[in-house]
Amino acid sequence: MMVSILFSLSENISADMFCSVFCRWYWQKEKREPYVKFMDTNYPPGFSYEDFGPLFTAEFFDANQWADILKASGARYVVLTSKHHEGFTLWGSKYSWNWNAVDVGPKRDLVAELAASVRNRTDLHFGLYHSLFEWFNPLFREDATSAFKTRKFPTSKSLPELYEIVAKYQPEIIWSDGDGDAPDTYWNSTGFLAWLYNDSPVRDTVVTNDRWGTGTMCTHGGFYTCRDRYNPGHLLPRKWENCMTIDRHSWGYRRDAPLRDYLAIEDLVKELAETVSCGGNLLMNIGPTHDGRIAVVFEERLRQMGAWLEVNGEAIYGTKPWRAQNDTVTPGVWYTSSPKEGKVNVIFLNWPVSGILELGEPQAKIGETQVKLAGYKDLLKWVALGEKGMVIALPQLTPQQLPCQWGWTLQLTDVN
Ligand SMILES: *[C@@H]1O[C@H](CO)[C@@H](O)[C@H](O)[C@H]1NC(C)=O
Ligand SMILES: *[C@@H]1O[C@H](CO)[C@@H](O)[C@H](O)[C@H]1NC(C)=O
Ligand SMILES: *[C@@H]1O[C@H](CO)[C@@H](O)[C@H](O)[C@H]1NC(C)=O
Repeated sequence: MMVSILFSLSENISADMFCSVFCRWYWQKEKREPYVKFMDTNYPPGFSYEDFGPLFTAEFFDANQWADILKASGARYVVLTSKHHEGFTLWGSKYSWNWNAVDVGPKRDLVAELAASVRNRTDLHFGLYHSLFEWFNPLFREDATSAFKTRKFPTSKSLPELYEIVAKYQPEIIWSDGDGDAPDTYWNSTGFLAWLYNDSPVRDTVVTNDRWGTGTMCTHGGFYTCRDRYNPGHLLPRKWENCMTIDRHSWGYRRDAPLRDYLAIEDLVKELAETVSCGGNLLMNIGPTHDGRIAVVFEERLRQMGAWLEVNGEAIYGTKPWRAQNDTVTPGVWYTSSPKEGKVNVIFLNWPVSGILELGEPQAKIGETQVKLAGYKDLLKWVALGEKGMVIALPQLTPQQLPCQWGWTLQLTDVN
């Protein structure tokens, strides 16, 4: 599991929406309600996207506190958005003059601070997201106008930045994004990746995704992300990631989001179980505020996820897909396997009213199979149904006695 973090400069307007406002405004002179109205009402006339820079202050940003929350989430990786499509770098890039967090706004290197705290206080792998293209960069627009025959932008901006962040922060994940409809040859992705895997300071540890130019997504790369919120529900032969957001609609923080727009912990546990059963990793994104806080709703979800993993982590970490991904009889039952321990893990999302869980997939062996509920001391009783699976008697527990509240794990040994 991975937590990703995206600061958006205009936190009142979600990442998708701020392009609706500004990209179209700048390039197509298209005025989009209601965002244009919101800007007109609340900001001075002529306010431009660049004016958000000084308003991004991060005065409450405490990297140690963030690292502690990330650790408590049970995640094994964190990926910080070092630069999103607006081109603002959270580190003091030599190639992003006056459009970075050291020169403008916080006047701090947020990437360096988080990297130091995560490495000092946790075992999490530290990674960086990086957008290849930039909405407002004139060099990128110029290259786009020539149908990417010229390569001014990647050679003077994106590639130097990528080499810069690898040298400075040694990220163990490069989560690339934003091909801007340009092919990987324009970005020289293979040239960069060859260096990254053969000669860079992280060559032995680094992992990358699949967003390196048009047509690479879901086709080439270390792990596949396919599209945002990709969750196929069946096993994929290749390692993949479900990159999604705790805010249902936005990667960046939205000041006006109502509570119903945030996924509940039950939704997140379901997403995690489905993803891992099908051979994927889950990436959960949170959007911090412009003043550098992780909003308490995100903190709560992350800590709840950690509490769930504390009990059920053996069904997630280091597991492999089993021969079946979900059950054929009872909905909301997902399988993983721990081959070394000889276990099949059964994550069930609904506690049956009868107290009897019917499973159509595992075939129990009388006298051999053992069934354990994660976080509960006694072995459970069961009945084998031959090829039709097995039924398991769950213990009668009060809500206080349940090992956790949002999905449970059975560990089966010696089943077919
Ligand atoms: C690492 O943590 C220790 C103990 O918490 C602290 O004394 C030290 O200053 C930290 N170092 C960095 C680089 O943050
Ligand atoms: C692509 O990157 C590699 C490695 O840095 C470099 O040797 C090569 O010249 C680059 N190619 C182009 C077309 O920029
Ligand atoms: C198993 O999962 C797939 C994909 O999500 C779904 O279509 C199917 O209905 C599930 N089976 C059961 C019994 O819930």
